[in-house]
Amino acid sequence: MSDNPYQDTRGNKDASIAKQGARGTSEGGDREGRATPAPSGPFLIGENMTGGYGKGPDILHGCTIAVEKGEIAVIVGPNGAGKSTAMKAVFGMLNLRGGSVRLDGEDITALSPQDRVVKGMGFVPQNNNIFTSLTVEENLEMGAFIRRDDFRDTMTQIYDLFPILKEKRFQAAGELSGGQRQQVAVGRALMTQPKVLMLDEPTAGVSPIVMDELFDRIIEVARTGIPILMVEQNARQALEIADHGYVLVQGSNGHTGTGKELLANPEVRASFLGG
Ligand SMILES: Nc1ncnc2c1ncn2[C@@H]1O[C@H](COP(=O)(O)OP(=O)(O)O)[C@@H](O)[C@H]1O
Ligand SMILES: [Mg+2]
Repeated sequence: MSDNPYQDTRGNKDASIAKQGARGTSEGGDREGRATPAPSGPFLIGENMTGGYGKGPDILHGCTIAVEKGEIAVIVGPNGAGKSTAMKAVFGMLNLRGGSVRLDGEDITALSPQDRVVKGMGFVPQNNNIFTSLTVEENLEMGAFIRRDDFRDTMTQIYDLFPILKEKRFQAAGELSGGQRQQVAVGRALMTQPKVLMLDEPTAGVSPIVMDELFDRIIEVARTGIPILMVEQNARQALEIADHGYVLVQGSNGHTGTGKELLANPEVRASFLGG
């Protein structure tokens, strides 16, 4: 656990992102538990979210997740903790009974998922996140559904970020490996040129090597100025690349802190990181 492959790249990311912080909202100044005051409030926040599915019981109980400009925020926690539910709530797929969602200072709690995409949110859900019968390129084209302008430059950027997708662009996405499918899913979300990207378990079911590669790509995306809010089951590795982390337990915030703080927290280590 001492050799962190992201140490160097993170340094670069922080440096390049600092410049972009200049253009921030001044809403909400210093949130709880920050070591240093942020130049702006969180870019995207689901705050005190309470709610569940349909008329069913509440799954989220006053849960808060957020990501700041230029940062990677990671949500970890046991299976069934409500991580995906929290992400869906932030994306507008749940009727919240309490709490709110704000994007760049604007209350978007009442907006549909489609309208949130128009506002600049990109979301890669945990399941069924690609069209398996369509080609890789068709998947990317589908991602551009809200765009009326020429999106070929964006597609080129995505092929630069994920060269394997260019190689396989005329292949059915369903024929790709797990890691490659996740690249298709992230690429599809990037086609709308989102201002913030939400990823639910982008490395699910891939080998450790592929996981490292995907994390590298995710860091690269973050470095282009797109804040990333992601759920990860590879808790330790994810917290190593996280500026902020959330440990969710039974629909509530168990622990919150910087990635470093959570990795060093004895209780978090014992309960969620395998010691
Ligand atoms: N579509 C759904 N309808 C009803 N209950 C659901 C649905 N999806 C998830 N749940 C329930 O919500 C709880 C949290 O699930 P989930 O958010 O998927 O957890 P996690 O992503 O942390 O593993 C679980 O008890 C699960 O059974
Ligand atoms: Mg989940």
